[in-house]
Amino acid sequence: MRAVVCDRYGSPDVLRLENVERPLPQADEVLVKVRATNVNRADCATREANRRSGPAISLLSRLMSGIRRPKQRILGTEFAGEVQAVGAGVTELAAGDRVFGNSGFRFGAHAALMCIRDSARMHMPAGASFEEAAAGCDGALNALVCLRQAGLRNGRTILVYGASGSIGIPGVQLAKHFGAHVTAVCNTKNLELVRSLGADRVIDYTREDFTTNGETYDVIFDAVGKQSFNRCRDSLKRGGIYLPTDGLTNLILAMWHSRSGDKKVLFQIPPRTSKKDVLFLKELIEAGKYRAVIDRTYPLEDVVEATTYVETEQKTGNFVLTINGAR
Ligand SMILES: NC(=O)c1ccc[n+]([C@@H]2O[C@H](COP(=O)([O-])OP(=O)(O)OC[C@H]3O[C@@H](n4cnc5c(N)ncnc54)[C@H](OP(=O)(O)O)[C@@H]3O)[C@@H](O)[C@H]2O)c1
Repeated sequence: MRAVVCDRYGSPDVLRLENVERPLPQADEVLVKVRATNVNRADCATREANRRSGPAISLLSRLMSGIRRPKQRILGTEFAGEVQAVGAGVTELAAGDRVFGNSGFRFGAHAALMCIRDSARMHMPAGASFEEAAAGCDGALNALVCLRQAGLRNGRTILVYGASGSIGIPGVQLAKHFGAHVTAVCNTKNLELVRSLGADRVIDYTREDFTTNGETYDVIFDAVGKQSFNRCRDSLKRGGIYLPTDGLTNLILAMWHSRSGDKKVLFQIPPRTSKKDVLFLKELIEAGKYRAVIDRTYPLEDVVEATTYVETEQKTGNFVLTINGAR
């Protein structure tokens, strides 16, 4: 079968399309014919062993993903496709069912076929295309893990920084769903999009610095890894929560603040998600309360070009790759 393989760490051009052996499902697994997947920051970070995040994080990354080369040759965490075969212990799904989900650090979605465990897959949202389903999970699961730590409810205020990214877009919609008053920060070109997602107030970061305008929030969610707790501290109300999406400093602050502190950083690594979370997103998509945004769609063959674009950090929402003729 066709797959994009990654045999060494490095720039996007280490990725190669190859013919590899078909995977065989274990008893608790489903064999999925992948129709759509995406290129996300987890794929990019693993492929380059988190080189951009500095030597300490890069070493940690290699300890997890393989010291010399990636243990998982086939990257890709998001998938939407059709069940081809099921293991002996699988009862909920049958050949032909349309499924979507997230394989996490098992990866494997940049391929024509992949095996998925029970905990990672779910019937696709009714009415969604493969592309929409493949774009619907990754950023939204990250946003959900972050936001549910903050106990959002009616009357709470949140600022979502980087509201046009793959985590920020669901971040705005999920925060609205939980009842919060949402202020979203993005670039001029994305103001209308972000407003259409339900943000109550939108700030253009090229014209206004939210850290100096005197407004304060119960929660600040840095959905794009460009802020810091120190910069945001004065924009938090008493007892306010800063939610980062990456950074060793944030991890240390979160451990420190779990013992003390008024304003605090809450951060979960690795993000723990479950099949229940995927079901929650599926229901929100079906109810029209959450929609993924797709920046571009390319065929799997163009993975190097797609990855190069994702690494510009300029994409709006998701970059989808199609395989086996998605619809
Ligand atoms: N996606 C994942 O799998 C994953 C997993 C774990 C952690 N993370 C972390 O989560 C964060 C977000 O990842 P992502 O994949 O969601 O990002 P992304 O989709 O690549 O973010 C791109 C968006 O961020 C905006 N942006 C870029 N620079 C900005 C700035 N200085 N201020 C405000 N907005 C800016 C861009 O819009 P404009 O430039 O037009 O404003 C663009 O819309 C990162 O810190 C990443 O390391 C990602």
